[in-house]
Amino acid sequence: MQPLQLPIVFICLLALGQACQDSASTTTTKDWWENAQFYQIYPRSFMDSDGDGIGDLNGITSKLEYLKELGVTAAWLSPIFKSPMVDFGYDISDFFDIQPEYGTLEDFRNLIKKANELELKIILDFVPNHSSDENEWFKKSVKREKGYQDYYVWHDGKVNASTGVREPPSNWLQAFRGSAWEWVEERQQYYLHQFAVQQADLNYRNPDVVAQMKRVLRYWLNEGVAGFRCDAVPVLFEVEPDENGQYPDEGLSGLTDDVDNRNYLKNELIENRPETIDMSYQWRTVMDDYQRIHGGETRVLLIETYAPPAYTMQFYGNRSVEGAHLPFNFNLITVPASSGVSAGSIKTAVDNWLLNMPSGRTANWVIGNHDQRRAASRYGVANTDAMNMLVMILPGASVTYQGEELGMTDGWISWEDTQDPAACNANEDTYEEFTRDPSRTPFQWTSDTNAGFSTAAKTWLPLASDYETVNVAMESAASKSHLTIYKSLIELRKGSKTLQNGATKYAVLNEEAFVVKRYLSGYPIIVYVANLGNASLTVDLQEFDTTLASSLTMEISSLDSQKTEGALIEVSSIALSAGEALVLTSI
Ligand code: GLC
Ligand code: MG
Repeated sequence: MQPLQLPIVFICLLALGQACQDSASTTTTKDWWENAQFYQIYPRSFMDSDGDGIGDLNGITSKLEYLKELGVTAAWLSPIFKSPMVDFGYDISDFFDIQPEYGTLEDFRNLIKKANELELKIILDFVPNHSSDENEWFKKSVKREKGYQDYYVWHDGKVNASTGVREPPSNWLQAFRGSAWEWVEERQQYYLHQFAVQQADLNYRNPDVVAQMKRVLRYWLNEGVAGFRCDAVPVLFEVEPDENGQYPDEGLSGLTDDVDNRNYLKNELIENRPETIDMSYQWRTVMDDYQRIHGGETRVLLIETYAPPAYTMQFYGNRSVEGAHLPFNFNLITVPASSGVSAGSIKTAVDNWLLNMPSGRTANWVIGNHDQRRAASRYGVANTDAMNMLVMILPGASVTYQGEELGMTDGWISWEDTQDPAACNANEDTYEEFTRDPSRTPFQWTSDTNAGFSTAAKTWLPLASDYETVNVAMESAASKSHLTIYKSLIELRKGSKTLQNGATKYAVLNEEAFVVKRYLSGYPIIVYVANLGNASLTVDLQEFDTTLASSLTMEISSLDSQKTEGALIEVSSIALSAGEALVLTSI
């Protein structure tokens, strides 16, 4: 073949591919997860059924109807497994049993049964990277019991030539401050822990570990779950030791002088390794095989990854292999954190996902979780509806962290009440920089004692101070609230082919307004416009898209907006107050 012909053939193929995709999108029905509204429950803080101040499974079961009313598709639960609760369930001592504070396996089966009756899907948190040091596996590994010797990442460490003192194998740091290596007297070796000392890293270079963790997946699939949110995936593998059996040190990042802070190092050797991507493909095979053998709907994998796009996107799979259904898109969480929320930072976040995502894959949008400050606090209370609208209007799946539908804000937690290991490992003066407790305060159901979350004298974390006005009871009774707006958004999504299958165009207008148009031939256009700045402005949507009709119908507006539902809005001149956001349609 003559070299010059190559590009022409290539361009034709691309053009054909594009045409196929467009026509396919109008006719293909999507699989359940592709347009799903996922809702994250933090079980410890959702609903307490037995008055001990700690949320539990029966509490969740008693509130599944609430999720049904919201209209969400699936709930993903942060860990509910047996755990000493050093990292609130992310330190699992028995992957096959339920934490007694949260209930029993029977309670879990009831939860699934009730969810099935309501046609809600339940997704569990899979914590593959580490187990609790109280796990039987770890205890056996410490004793070098047959079959468990290499279950974890063990190393002799190095003897310092000048002092003769034994030191950790490398300078690696854990996520919650300090060395990632812990000495065990009994075994006379160090083990690796990328998180707390009590969270020992499993050794994925041991095929027994790989097989064991697949057993964990199948065990919960057998209990009827619809898939997994996979925890802390990018840290699954570390670099292999060098030819002398030594682990190389990480280089310095130059980002901070705080030598105990993980960001002090580059973390290139202990994060984002290629082997990790392959492991996620193997888990996908477990999901697909399970469905082939047992039938039922697709079991999904959602991957937790804070990594550069080039790495994150590989989790989707490639032309020859399927990967995770959805690697979480944390761009909306991470971009505004560094530059402040603005139309520009939102556009960057959206670009960074949509322009990097491999074709044929499904996007997703996340604005909060149990590791971040609450969305309303981060983006500003005034932008609550604008942000909830955005994740529902953009293409693909949306993810809500409990309370975002209410506009719940961060609770303030004193040093004495602090629970999170990330904060406890700091000190009284600095803990607020690290703490994740503020977004974990109890869910706000009513204006009553403990916001209706618990009858206990003291809840495991205190309530956020705004619970008397920001809660389900008040917001359901109101004619318009963050909650009613959230529900209308889900309703709109469920009934709209345009939102489900349509194309997407977006831009920044007047520097502070972000606008998104969704369109699909033969169906109404949907336009989202939000003023993310601090002052009023007037936008001309025809400047954004000359093909828009001169007026559109107001479908949903943010809480303080004066525009009425059903009103015709002149698109060439829309005045928006700070935080005002609208969803308009062409009906
Ligand atoms: C994930 C979890 C976080 C936990 C960590 C260790 O990042 O979201 O809460 O502390 O993994 O399991
Ligand atoms: Mg309880």
